[in-house]
Amino acid sequence: MMGLPASLTARMALAYGAATVAILVAVSTYLASALATQLQDRDEGELVGEVLLVRHLLREVSSEAEIRADTHRFADLALGHEGLILLVRGSRGEPLVTLNPRHEPVPALPVLPANATPDKSRLHTWYPRNGVASRGIAALGQLGDGERTVEIVVLRDAGYRVALMKAYQSQMLWATLCGAGAAAGLGYLLARRGLRPLRRMAEDASAVTMSRLATRLDAGHVPSELRVLVDALNDMLARLEDGFQRLSEFSADLAHDFRTPISNLIGQTQVTLGHSRTVQEYENLLESNLEEYERLARMIENMLFLARADHAQVAMAVRELDARAELDTVAEYFEAVAADRDIKVRLAGQGMVRADQTLLRRAVTNLVDNALRHAPTGSAIDIRVAAGSTATTIRVGNGGAGIPPEALPHVFGRFYRGDPARSNSSSSTGLGLAIVDTIMRLHGGSVSVRSLPGETVLELSFPVVNVLAQRADG
Ligand SMILES: Nc1ncnc2c1ncn2[C@@H]1O[C@H](COP(=O)(O)OP(=O)(O)O)[C@@H](O)[C@H]1O
Ligand SMILES: [Mg+2]
Repeated sequence: MMGLPASLTARMALAYGAATVAILVAVSTYLASALATQLQDRDEGELVGEVLLVRHLLREVSSEAEIRADTHRFADLALGHEGLILLVRGSRGEPLVTLNPRHEPVPALPVLPANATPDKSRLHTWYPRNGVASRGIAALGQLGDGERTVEIVVLRDAGYRVALMKAYQSQMLWATLCGAGAAAGLGYLLARRGLRPLRRMAEDASAVTMSRLATRLDAGHVPSELRVLVDALNDMLARLEDGFQRLSEFSADLAHDFRTPISNLIGQTQVTLGHSRTVQEYENLLESNLEEYERLARMIENMLFLARADHAQVAMAVRELDARAELDTVAEYFEAVAADRDIKVRLAGQGMVRADQTLLRRAVTNLVDNALRHAPTGSAIDIRVAAGSTATTIRVGNGGAGIPPEALPHVFGRFYRGDPARSNSSSSTGLGLAIVDTIMRLHGGSVSVRSLPGETVLELSFPVVNVLAQRADG
């Protein structure tokens, strides 16, 4: 594309011009050669006709002297035929009629007998002084007395045809140049017109702002070639709008979730400050405040984690880990809580996973934390590792009411909480499963959920294929 003008309009104008030149040159070359052939054909026909005419005139005279006496009758025959040379020679070769205004050297041509009819195949080529290949014919003609014959020579200097063709060609050249110029101009106008929908699209697009993301480019008036582009852009706008919508919902949720602990803090503190209190009461307040602070800190930490993961800024030290050993550690951490609620934590299976240790523990911790919270008192939680050929899975299952089907698609969403009544509880932020989902995506794996009344299973799936190593290499 180097050397082409940047403007599409100019390019199209140039292309129009170039195409027109090519077409006009081809057409005029063809026409010129057709014209040259036709002219030559006509000339040759005239040469033959001239011989016939002279023969005809000769029949009307009975002696060479009569010819000499009235050469005009013969000369008239050549009138209006540019470059025509006419000679009539007597039986001894003496000139009777000589019509050769430019005194061209007359070639010696084979002579056609008096009884042979001349036609184009009897013509011969000769060269006048200008060097242009020309045609001519020599034939005997009988006088009126039916005995004597004279020699007729008819030649035509083709130089005039060359001059004619030259004039024609220079005219064609000018016509071609003008035509190309006109085509380029027309091409420019047409291209400008044709590109108008693009300019209109640009105007539409510049009207799209953050607050007006619902704007769509008008597909009604664009030509079909551009409709694909308009549709693609509109799809892109729809995705952006959707993403933007979720982002603003997310910040609304965020504000809402920060407001609760903070209004708790303010309320409790105001009430306590209303009277003078005992040291015990102040201690109680601080303890309760501490819980809220901790909840806030946890939320902020979780938010930060998600934000960093969104920007791929989470530091990961991926290595081969014994999944069972990691699960043992997590289970141990929950021992006291589980015992409190008389819940058994059962571990089973073996397997290796390629994962970051901290993130793996964090994901499993979130699952076990949820399971413990939703399992009925006195029930059991099952944690199972299974090493498959393509993935190692970790399943955490618990009893209880389960997650309603309509809630299932949302549990991995940020700030989603199944039970709104508990949304103010200090332990629920609705970020747990969102974090699990993010951690699994960071590992190239996935998390899935299935839930029926009495059994809810969350499954982590770590790919066995060396996805992470490949990613790091690539
Ligand atoms: N093991 C489980 N059993 C039943 N419901 C669950 C389980 N795990 C998650 N849920 C549902 O999914 C929701 C989202 O979970 P999560 O993101 O961890 O938020 P949080 O635990 O802070 O409420 C929970 O509020 C709950 O309704
Ligand atoms: Mg949770």
